[in-house]
Amino acid sequence: MTKRVKIKKIKVKKTQTGHKPSHKATKIIKRMKAGYMSQRKQNYARFGPVGGSSSKETYMFSSEKETMAAPAVTQKVIIKEAPGIEISVPKVPAPLSTPLSSDEKEMLRNVNVTYPLIPEQPKRNEKVYAYARIRWDPKRNEIVYSVIEPDLTEYNRKVVEVVKKELEERLDIDFMKIGEIRAKELLSKEIRDIISDIEGVDPSSIDTIQYYVKRDIIGLGKIEPFMCDHDIEDISCDGEKIPIYIYHRNPLFGSIMSNIIFEDSDDLNTFAMKLSQKCGKSISVAEPIVEGALPDGSRVHAILGTDIARRGSNFTIRKFTKIPLTPIHMIESGVIDPIQLAYLWMAIENRKSLLISGGTASGKTSLLNALSLFIRPSMKIVSIEDTPELRLPHPHWIPEVARTAISEGNKAGEVSLYDLLKGSLRQRPDYIIVGEVRGQEALV
Ligand SMILES: Nc1ncnc2c1ncn2[C@@H]1O[C@H](COP(=O)(O)OP(=O)(O)OP(=O)(O)O)[C@@H](O)[C@H]1O
Ligand SMILES: [Mg+2]
Repeated sequence: MTKRVKIKKIKVKKTQTGHKPSHKATKIIKRMKAGYMSQRKQNYARFGPVGGSSSKETYMFSSEKETMAAPAVTQKVIIKEAPGIEISVPKVPAPLSTPLSSDEKEMLRNVNVTYPLIPEQPKRNEKVYAYARIRWDPKRNEIVYSVIEPDLTEYNRKVVEVVKKELEERLDIDFMKIGEIRAKELLSKEIRDIISDIEGVDPSSIDTIQYYVKRDIIGLGKIEPFMCDHDIEDISCDGEKIPIYIYHRNPLFGSIMSNIIFEDSDDLNTFAMKLSQKCGKSISVAEPIVEGALPDGSRVHAILGTDIARRGSNFTIRKFTKIPLTPIHMIESGVIDPIQLAYLWMAIENRKSLLISGGTASGKTSLLNALSLFIRPSMKIVSIEDTPELRLPHPHWIPEVARTAISEGNKAGEVSLYDLLKGSLRQRPDYIIVGEVRGQEALV
């Protein structure tokens, strides 16, 4: 029997930019420094341990993190056109291939940290369903990220499958539309109903069964724990039977192998399809590449296992910080110093054009987003992107996203970045932000 469920419209709380930039450089710098000092005390991002055992973990703060990161190169240049302003070239991080120092290697060997993922901040006595454990694996001679989830007996594994199948038949709802909290409530009730009809289920394992069913139906299955770890920047699956790699925000860890693997090509293909569906796109043998964004804003690039992906389906998920990075974060993480930022603020206020370039995952989009906060709230902004990554609080903002062709084989329905860019000039924007330029759109 199919149950009808009313779909409720979820109200999104609007945020205001509320900043009042000043034209005077001295005032700007003063403010920046004041903000910087107050923010320094906050550990806005968790960083991994500098050693110790899992029972006694030590977390590093951002200021300490900088000392452990690979050495940065700073060069001073004088801008002749603007006498009186000395501006240093942004710090260039050392290449990733830089060999680890013996101190860093020693630190990695002592890494042993465990933290909760689901829920991320458990209350007293609350059951934790997924943990992350990062520690040195002496056999592999590298650190490994393990997802620890509750054990399922063979019987309970079958129960999970039966419940999922039954739910698919019973419920005809798009969980993405009703919102996570409502979806979880609804599922809890239905799962309880279904389990009560199955014989031999130990009442103490119902919670665990609920966790696995919700993880697979509302969440992203076995990679859901990664999605809940805000210390992960990227999740990469290179193909079947290959461990998933994650890129940790702690620069000491970087790219780490995990214990999660898609063993079966069918499972991986189904997962690639589910991922595309969650981005509102479809993936097929004819159109095997998908670029999109998940409801939480994470960027997805997926390829279906065909002749173009020799190791099977693969995907990369770029996760962003919960709260978009601000100019103050940029100062804190050493990306830019207050004087450089003040200079860029004045450039933005005076409607100068900016181009941000850099290596992959070097923080271009995050910097672009942070700099966009310098645009006055009343200004009209049109942003044009391939995948929706920018998150702005401006009320007068039109976020536009390019679209691939609807029908395979011809260009019908395609709206390219260039089309949007041409069109945006008719929208009387004060600012046009182009997320990425790789083609024709760079000509304008
Ligand atoms: N200043 C920063 N401090 C901490 N994390 C950062 C900072 N800048 C960027 N990041 C993180 O690094 C990751 C990559 O950032 P971002 O997407 O901005 O890079 P990108 O250069 O645009 O990458 P791509 O070339 O893939 O488009 C993201 O997870 C982001 O949250
Ligand atoms: Mg980017």
